[in-house]
Amino acid sequence: MGFREYLDDIDNKGLLKKVDIEVSKKLEIAGILKQMEPTPIIFNNAKESEFRVAGNLFCTKNVIASYFKVDPNDLIPMLSNAILNSSEPEIIKNAPCQEIIEQNVDLDKLPILFHCEKDGGNYISSAVVVTRDPDYGQNLDFHRAMQFSKSKFSTRIVRGRNFHTFLEKNDELDVAFCVGNTPNIMIAAATSVEIGFDELMIANALEPIKVVKANSVDLMVPAEAEFILEGRVFKDEKHAEGPFVDLTETYDTIREEPVFEVKKITHRKNAIWQALLPGALEHKILMGMPREPTIFNKVNETGVKCLDVNVNPGGCSWLHAIVQIDKKTEEDGKKAIYGAFAGHSSCKHIFIVDKDINIYDPLSVEWAMATRFQGDTRMVVKEKEPGSSLDPSAEPGTKMTTKIGFDLTKPLVAKGKSFEIAEFPKVDIKKYFNE
Ligand SMILES: Cc1cc2nc3c(=O)[nH]c(=O)nc-3n(C[C@H](O)[C@H](O)[C@H](O)COP(=O)(O)O)c2cc1C
Repeated sequence: MGFREYLDDIDNKGLLKKVDIEVSKKLEIAGILKQMEPTPIIFNNAKESEFRVAGNLFCTKNVIASYFKVDPNDLIPMLSNAILNSSEPEIIKNAPCQEIIEQNVDLDKLPILFHCEKDGGNYISSAVVVTRDPDYGQNLDFHRAMQFSKSKFSTRIVRGRNFHTFLEKNDELDVAFCVGNTPNIMIAAATSVEIGFDELMIANALEPIKVVKANSVDLMVPAEAEFILEGRVFKDEKHAEGPFVDLTETYDTIREEPVFEVKKITHRKNAIWQALLPGALEHKILMGMPREPTIFNKVNETGVKCLDVNVNPGGCSWLHAIVQIDKKTEEDGKKAIYGAFAGHSSCKHIFIVDKDINIYDPLSVEWAMATRFQGDTRMVVKEKEPGSSLDPSAEPGTKMTTKIGFDLTKPLVAKGKSFEIAEFPKVDIKKYFNE
């Protein structure tokens, strides 16, 4: 299903809210989206642009699961399977994303949102970025980009990302920032796989896609995207980037980041700009969800049976993971902690729970901590290791952090009180009350 078809589909189901009055890309659209989160909204009358804007489209796992027509529990195996069985997308010549080829580049004509009061500028936050290295081939990832002229952005490129490796190697890179994508493409772009693996093949395995050669650069881009911003990123031409809200909902600092010069814009007829609120649910889901299969697989590799993983929004969908295991030996909890850290090295706190705990209910996890955990024997402390640069409490500049694993599983043999939740009698409640 393309982006457009998806909007039609949720509109037909009555799930898409419409704002028809004029709204500004400066603060207003982001404010409405945040207040209405997770309701999908289309803005039909953006003040500063001829284009419509849609946002809050894929804010929850339930929405993403219903897009793929699977149960939320099937998302981890679905993504693992797509990575293992990736496949080449179909290449086409006439693509919707190239219906209109703009003759001049003027970024002011696009509804690039100014999200929060202290932001450094208008930001693209939803773009899937395609680039290519002569040896490794194509790569997909996300890079926010702050507009600072009619044709230029500064774009945040975290060290260690494949894009960063490519740029260090090549000094300049052709890029395509693709806006208006469906979850198969967005999840694939957010997945970290070995360098040289074109994530469009993961997107295609999740749901078949078509790709087309970009208009002015030698890159294959999703044919049904709404907008393609083509151009070049320069390693040594830098510009201030920030402040901007990051995943933790706190402000990221201003840095000198590489310039992205837009040389060509292509788009669909009546194109719709995709908004994605920084630090909000949709951003969190896209960051955390692709880490769940990697944690799941690494825990299983330790010999402990992993049942489910939740990289939960309360932990910024990045810094915490709750891992459910089928405990068979007393060592399983600690083994699972080490496995989980191996599956997501940016994670700071790992919580291992039994199968009777609901990993999607923070109260249930807290209950396990309150009743099954002892700090002196059930905790693994990994002092000062490289963690996440996003964590405001990590050592500034070095991302060094203390990681902790909490084994919240109950002992296999209870020596004192029972660890089981007492069952109350089940009754037919309707019998007792007059409606
Ligand atoms: C919505 C969203 C925004 C992101 N923004 C950035 C960003 O601005 N800079 C960056 O380096 N990574 C950003 N990321 C993270 C990476 O793009 C992502 O983790 C990706 O998997 C890295 O791909 P790679 O392993 O191919 O390098 C973002 C991820 C998401 C989901």
